[in-house]
Amino acid sequence: MVIRGWIVPPPKAPTKTAAELESERRAKVRSLEAQGMLRSARIKSALLKVPREEFIPRQYRDYAYEEVPLPLPGAQATISCPHSYPLFYEPLELARGHRFLEIGTGSGYGAAVAREVVGDQGLVVSIEIDPVTHEFAKRNLERMGYADVLLILGDGALGYPAMAPYDRLALTAACRDFPAPLIAQLRPGGRAIAPVVEDDRQILTLLTKEPGGVRREKLCPVLYVALRGACATEALP
Ligand SMILES: C[S@@+](CC[C@H](N)C(=O)[O-])C[C@H]1O[C@@H](n2cnc3c(N)ncnc32)[C@H](O)[C@@H]1O
Repeated sequence: MVIRGWIVPPPKAPTKTAAELESERRAKVRSLEAQGMLRSARIKSALLKVPREEFIPRQYRDYAYEEVPLPLPGAQATISCPHSYPLFYEPLELARGHRFLEIGTGSGYGAAVAREVVGDQGLVVSIEIDPVTHEFAKRNLERMGYADVLLILGDGALGYPAMAPYDRLALTAACRDFPAPLIAQLRPGGRAIAPVVEDDRQILTLLTKEPGGVRREKLCPVLYVALRGACATEALP
């Protein structure tokens, strides 16, 4: 199967033991560090702690630490590649105590990692547009002890004003630009990150809300599923 240019390995019954998967998790973290993608001690310990395999459908579980997005229940939903999480959370400088809003809950894994990073004094709100995917994430997060992540079913482009302002915000689906309601819900000095469509490609873009407006910094080319809903991106590259 191919999802947006990524070749997805074939579904199969899981064979790996918990110990094997834990060893793969440690190796993945070492390799992300060696590549310079993972630098923060808090993000590192979150990645070591959260078992990614618990957020993946059974038939793809053995591929939990391979660098491919894997299909999830629901339309067009995927769990992103393992390196995506430091790729987003390092430039955001996600840290203890932050109020974090995620658009695109997917499996719930990214929300669980963020919850470990922000800790008890922080907050994680995550919005998913697909009801089937939302239920899948809810089950995963509750089973793994992250019932305090606030999960919202709806269009994430509208944000979640009830818990605003947010210190940090991540869109995990590609958009034409940061939706205005999200920028409005970001606190002054706050940061947001998203794959932004530009000509025929997607660029991971970091936005900082400054007194005079917003500053955008282009980080690297990426490939994500398209944002759906009110700010849907059509005919994405
Ligand atoms: C790459 S996946 C998210 C991966 C997720 N962060 C994880 O850790 O598994 C992108 C998700 O965004 C969702 N999505 C797309 N458009 C959305 C919107 N407007 N509001 C909320 N979720 C949306 C998709 O249904 C999909 O689940």
